Amino acid sequence: MALPDVTPERVLDKEPVRVRSRRQPFGYAPRDCEEGTMGLLDGKRALVFGVANDHSIAWGITKALHAEGATVGLSSVEALLERRVRPLAEGLGIDFVEPCDVSDDAQIARVFERWGEQQGDLDVLVHAVAHARREDLDGAFVDTSRDGFHLALDVSAYSLTALTRGALPHLRPGASVITLSYLGAERAVPHYNVMGVAKAALEASVRYLAADLGPRGIRVNAISAGPVRTLAASGVAGFRDLYAQFRDVAPLRRNLALDDIGGTAVWLASDLASGVTGEVVHTDGGFSILGMAGGA
Ligand SMILES: NC(=O)c1ccc[n+]([C@@H]2O[C@H](COP(=O)([O-])OP(=O)(O)OC[C@H]3O[C@@H](n4cnc5c(N)ncnc54)[C@H](O)[C@@H]3O)[C@@H](O)[C@H]2O)c1
Repeated sequence: MALPDVTPERVLDKEPVRVRSRRQPFGYAPRDCEEGTMGLLDGKRALVFGVANDHSIAWGITKALHAEGATVGLSSVEALLERRVRPLAEGLGIDFVEPCDVSDDAQIARVFERWGEQQGDLDVLVHAVAHARREDLDGAFVDTSRDGFHLALDVSAYSLTALTRGALPHLRPGASVITLSYLGAERAVPHYNVMGVAKAALEASVRYLAADLGPRGIRVNAISAGPVRTLAASGVAGFRDLYAQFRDVAPLRRNLALDDIGGTAVWLASDLASGVTGEVVHTDGGFSILGMAGGA
């Protein structure tokens, strides 16, 4: 599976990754997952798909789950595993690190077989995976090719169902499946194009999976996150402008930190969200509530 033809350094080192300010007016600051954890996930086991590097949303979620007491395992594409993912895993004492291309059913079966052998049950499955051709995230949506459409929908939407089905023998009642979506599922966002269609399919999949698995006590939800500077985001044309404009418009007047999204994931993974399933939880500083820019 071809990954974007950019390295994290080339994309992310152009400008330092920064949340505009951790000190906000009125004394408000984003959550820091290393401050004041509560053991909300003590005894739970989580498997996270989608860490590419330490800018990945999956990595933010991994740190947050780990800080709350979960035992976490990681799976990522083979090409990133040894150089990028294993060193990060070692830093947190994570020893389950397995390759998986989510478009390959045999690899999905193998990763869950390994999980069963090494860890047994699974309480939290995190799907933070997406991919589309670079040329389909630029220009006009009407030009999307059939192959590009299939690729984006397969890797970014169908894979949630494939991973959930693979995980099913290990998921206990009370387990939580979490995926990552974006506003482009609900509204036409410039250049998001086929990925918006994939996210719409992903969000619909969340509802159907939640309906299927609810009777088994398994919850399925999506986090619709505001823009974060990651490798995947770098493939969307105009992302830099979108990211900069976001903080001037979003009600909270700042960009999202990985810890903001990690916090929502902890909540959805924990028993605090025991009555929540089939939802798309916006974690976007309020951006999606707006009818137009402006305000107080
Ligand atoms: N960055 C944002 O602004 C933003 C906003 C909302 C939602 N999201 C979503 O968050 C999720 C994580 O993306 P990210 O922004 O952290 O970027 P990222 O590049 O760090 O993560 C994307 C991951 O998908 C993986 N992937 C791609 N094809 C794969 C395949 N065939 N098999 C297995 N893994 C594959 C990549 O290896 C990478 O680890 C994605 O679903 C993305 O759409 C991102």
